[in-house]
Order: sequence, then C-alpha cells, then structure tokens
Amino acid sequence: MTSFIGGIRASGNGLLVRISIIAAIGGLLFGFDTGVISGALLYLKKDLSAGSLAQEWIVSVLLLGAVLGAALSGWLADKISRKWTKVVSGAVYIVGALGCAFAVSIPMLIGFRFVLGLSVGTASFVAPLYIAEVSPPRVRGGLVSFNQLLITIGILLAYLVNFAFSSVEGGWRWMLAMGAIPGAALVIGMLTVPHTPRWLMQQGREDEAREVLTRLRGRDPEADIDREIEDIKTAKRKEESTSLRDLLHANIRPLLWVGIGLAVFQQFVGINTVIYYAPTILSKTGLTNSASIVQTVFVGVTNVVFTIVAVLLLDRVGRRRLLLIGTVGLTLSIIFLGIFFASPGLQAGASYLALVALLVYIASFAVGLGPVFWLMISEIYPLGIRSKAMSVATIFNWGANFLVAGTFLTLVSVITTQGTFFLFGGLGILAFLFFVWKVPETKDKSLEQIQSELVGEIAPPDDGSARE
Ligand code: BGC
Repeated sequence: MTSFIGGIRASGNGLLVRISIIAAIGGLLFGFDTGVISGALLYLKKDLSAGSLAQEWIVSVLLLGAVLGAALSGWLADKISRKWTKVVSGAVYIVGALGCAFAVSIPMLIGFRFVLGLSVGTASFVAPLYIAEVSPPRVRGGLVSFNQLLITIGILLAYLVNFAFSSVEGGWRWMLAMGAIPGAALVIGMLTVPHTPRWLMQQGREDEAREVLTRLRGRDPEADIDREIEDIKTAKRKEESTSLRDLLHANIRPLLWVGIGLAVFQQFVGINTVIYYAPTILSKTGLTNSASIVQTVFVGVTNVVFTIVAVLLLDRVGRRRLLLIGTVGLTLSIIFLGIFFASPGLQAGASYLALVALLVYIASFAVGLGPVFWLMISEIYPLGIRSKAMSVATIFNWGANFLVAGTFLTLVSVITTQGTFFLFGGLGILAFLFFVWKVPETKDKSLEQIQSELVGEIAPPDDGSARE
C-alpha cells in the first residue's frame, strides 16, 4: 500500500486520482443497483403483489440487460469514446432509476430494470477500461481494484438507503429513485474528464493524447511521455492486427478459460444470492423485515472493509494466495449456513450464527474472488486482445449472475434453503480446485512480463488468418 499511495503521490497533480474516482462512479452504480433491490423486494411483494416468479424477474432482468450492455460497450467505447460511453451509461441509469421508482405495474418495473441493466453492464466494463487507460503501470493494479471498492461502497450505500426508507410509506420507490443521484454524478463528472490517451491515439489524435498524458503524469519523475506514446502505438498496432478469432488461438485459449472460469465461479459460489437476498435469508431466522435490513448493513460494511484489506494486501500477499484463502473461507461458511438451516435447534437458540456465517462469507469473498476476478482479467491478456477478452469474461460474469439470481428462489423451494447452500459449497470446492490448477500469480510483474510468461509470442496460425 505504501507503494500504491507513494505512486499516487508521485504522479503529482491529483488529476489522476480525481478522474479515477469519477470513472469509478461506474462501479458505484453497479454496486448500488446490486444492493438496493434486496431491500425494495421486501415491500414490493406487498405493494405490487409480486410473487416468487415476478420477484426473480425483477432481480434478474437487470442482469440480462447487463449482458447486452457488456457486449455492446466494447463496440461503443471504440466508436464514441470511453468518456462518452460512460456519459451515456450514466444518463441511461437516471432514466432506469426514475422509471423503476414510478413503476405502476410489474411489467413496467421489469422493463425499466432491463434499462438499468444496459447501463450497469456498460459501466462494469468501461470503468476499469477507462481507469486502466489513464493510469501509469505502477499504480494501475491499485486503481483497478479501487473500482471494486466503489462497487462495495455502492452496495453499502444501497443498504443504508434501504434502511433509511424502510419505515416510509411506499419507501421502495424512494430506494429505487435514489440511484438517479450517482447516475447524475457520473454524467456531470465524466463531462469534466479528458478522453483516454489510448482512445485519442486510436483516432489518430496524437497531439491531444500527448497533451492529456502530460497533464495526467504531472510531476511524476518516472514519467516518460514519448515512451508511453510509443507503447500505445505498439499496442494499437497489435489490437488492429487481432480479431475475435484470435481469442481462440492456441496460446490465448487457456487464458480465455482462466478468465471465464474466474467469471463463472465468482457467481456460482452464490455471492449475489447473499447480496440480493440477505434480508430474505435473515428474515427466515425469525427477524422482522426492519431488523433484517439493519443486519444486512453489517454485511455491506464487512464487504467494504475487507475490500480495503484486499487493496492493501493484493500487492504484498499476492493475488493467487488471497484468492485461494478467500475461496476456502467462503466455501466453509456457506456450508455452515447449510448446516444452520438444516438444524431447527440452532435456528431457535442461536439465530445470530446465520449473521456470523454471512459475514465470514462476505469477508472471504471481498479479500479474494471479488477484486481478484476484475483485476486478473485486466492483467492476464496481452494488450492486443485485452479489451475483447475482458468483454467476453464480463459477459460470462453477468450471464452466470443471471443464472444464479434467477434460479435462487426456485432452488430454495425445490431443494430447500440448506440444499441450496450445500450446492454453493460444492461449487466453492470446484472453484478452489480450478484456481489451484489454472490461475497464475501476477504480483510484482509488469504486464509485458506476464504476457511473455503466459503467452509468449502469438505466432500466426497455420491458415494465416492472424495478421500479426
Ligand atoms: C461482483 C458482483 C458482486 C460484487 C460484490 C463483484 O466483484 O462482480 O457480482 O455483487 O462483487 O461485492
């Protein structure tokens, strides 16, 4: 962390920090939306007479929108720039949040949740992309994980908003409307930041790219603007020379699997059932709606605190070790939750144990799989295919999120609450084995080192289709 903070200080004029925070508001939107629905759901059930199926759709249609948003945003970010893509994403978010707040029927709510999803899917992908493209390599890892920190702060804010409006008549409308505030902050903030040097270079606007880089690097003694411009040119040449087909090249394919494996397991261990349904899970232990919303705030705080721990430790302990330790912790705690729900004695005498297990689970996720997935996919791919590979991993992440969130309540009714948690526990064990087997360590390595160790040179395929 000293080196992260030292690196930020060395970068000089504070502009880098300011624009990274603004870009990371994308993470805040992502998180706010993820967290707010859990509280709103408790009241929606009654106000709009939403049954299990309707609730599942209200939660998960956003994720379908996000899959589409993640798929489109790669194209949009090249076409109209990263900056304007984020402005559009913020504006769409405002429309979605207000549309949900004023919804008079379930279909209308579902429609506007889809709109929100388009925005969130875009933000999840373009926020790290924008930050990575403006950051000097030395602090890029910290700043990319900073985006995850804003996700968790967004979730916590949502829990607090849920709490604040939990005893207000029609409070769920306020809960959902509040999302328009960070949406507006993103739009206004992004209007004040520069384009990324990399996008400017793609457009052939080298002078502007040089000017932005000079402002961004401030007094940084290690900055070498000419060299960075050259690196971007090389990266740009490589990017132009690769196509979607190159993702399937023999040297890249294993890394594509690592990204997809991390993406899918990040969701298959059940993280968002805890985030979305924490109050529902806690209310099963006999707590009132308001009490379970209060306890859910602890879940949000734990998530933020342990994400800060991750930011502090990732560059010291290493990504891989934190990932493995975190996966063991979350697997054991979700299995314990299964045991808890299978034991009427425990539920009657010690309902606080459910909260303890949820907190251990969320802390374990926050130090490992949460930040490590987003960080890894920004590190393990060669520059030339990074954005395409990241976009594929992001689509899988939202797709898996959709599958889990969309089936959770059905799973609970078919195989019981404990059965569902045991299932997540089993998937946690599989995730652990996959990570041990496949996930490399990237700590202390430059992106170029990572590339040469993991990929080597990308030789042209036999059919000559890769224009290296
Ligand atoms: C995941 C989200 C999750 C969040 C929880 C993110 O890394 O992608 O699905 O809701 O972490 O903190």
